[in-house]
Amino acid sequence: MTDSLDSLQQRHLEALEAAYAQVLERLGLDGVLIHSGRPRCHFADDQEASFAAFGHFMHWTGQAQLAHSWLLVRPGRAPRLYLHAPDDFWHLPATLPEEAWVARFEVERGRFETPPTLPAGRFAVIGDVDAADANPPGLVAALNELRVCKSEYEMACIAEANRRALQGHAAARRCLLDGGAELDIQLAYLGTSRQRENELPYANIIGANAHGGVLHYQHYDRQAPVRRRSLLVDAGHRQRGYCADITRTWAGPDADPAFQPLIDGVTAIKERLAAALAPGVEFVVLQERMHQLLGALLVDQGVVRCTPEAAVESGLTRAFCPHGLGHLLGVQVHDVAGRVDATGRPLPPPQAHPALRLTRTLAPGMVVTIEPGLYVIPMLLAPHRGRDDVDWGVVDRLADHGGIRIEDNLAVTAEGAHNLTPVLPD
Ligand code: GLY
Ligand code: MN
Ligand code: MN
Repeated sequence: MTDSLDSLQQRHLEALEAAYAQVLERLGLDGVLIHSGRPRCHFADDQEASFAAFGHFMHWTGQAQLAHSWLLVRPGRAPRLYLHAPDDFWHLPATLPEEAWVARFEVERGRFETPPTLPAGRFAVIGDVDAADANPPGLVAALNELRVCKSEYEMACIAEANRRALQGHAAARRCLLDGGAELDIQLAYLGTSRQRENELPYANIIGANAHGGVLHYQHYDRQAPVRRRSLLVDAGHRQRGYCADITRTWAGPDADPAFQPLIDGVTAIKERLAAALAPGVEFVVLQERMHQLLGALLVDQGVVRCTPEAAVESGLTRAFCPHGLGHLLGVQVHDVAGRVDATGRPLPPPQAHPALRLTRTLAPGMVVTIEPGLYVIPMLLAPHRGRDDVDWGVVDRLADHGGIRIEDNLAVTAEGAHNLTPVLPD
């Protein structure tokens, strides 16, 4: 029988308490006060922008929407939550879920727009606070490192977020087939995966046709396109604070015949790179491997006529795919500490791959995305237009399809990796 989520969460918290105690003792601190964060109003307005709590607060509580609250962590003591839940007839005061962590914590309810009074001692404060001595870098770096390798509990939450996100992706695909506009697809996704837009871990990217080539496309057309060539959906979910980040791309009924083989090719590249995940592997090497495989795909499909090596060396594959292969995933979709080593030493991305968010050596427990892509982005291809080893006719026919990205979430294990993203049913 598998362990219940409650018992996994108890073990997650036991390990977190021990790890925090070690860090705090090493830094000579009696404790750390973690602020959940404060929603911001639009300028000169009384309306709040959407809010997500500070990652280190979620690491303990999983509560993404709990604002103005504080968590005091002291070695050898139960964590103490100062829960902002004042009497209020405008809003419903915050409540806590029925989860194992609540019984483990001391909870004090009250009004906490300002920090609670702490007992005497040496305390650090981290989070979205104005104090000049808040967020000491050594402490924040050490606590970030504690988020890099996930506990069994965290992996279970990410797997569940994936399962729910996939239900939304299935609905998005059905909506495409039914002729929906981008906005209909977004609403179908949200409805089926049971989420409000402000609870998403990131703004869903729902790009029809050329919009699929805008990497973080941020609008939802209200009208379905006349010709339905393609749809790219990059959409997630949050489960107990933990994120899913999944992308699928589909050919529409009006797609060029060259498009589906490229989707199949990018899907195969995702599979190849996912199979290469293992402890000790340098993620930068996988990024370079992605470009070799994209070069080979472009040659195989007749989009370019040079060798795959020449396509990589001349920068052509980077014009077709300017983003990184993936990133760490956790309570933030682009989780912390992807570009430092375990001691906090910076690991900047290679010059050729400035957008790569993960430059570490892989270790068991890391959860990463693998998201190869292939796009027709006119401003990036423009400098290559003079080349005669590119079939510009095919490129131009594909331009109104935008692009392809296929993205799964995988946990690195002792032997290799485990894919947390279920297969989308037909
Ligand atoms: N959804 C943002 C990303 O894939 O990194
Ligand atoms: Mn994504
Ligand atoms: Mn991603």
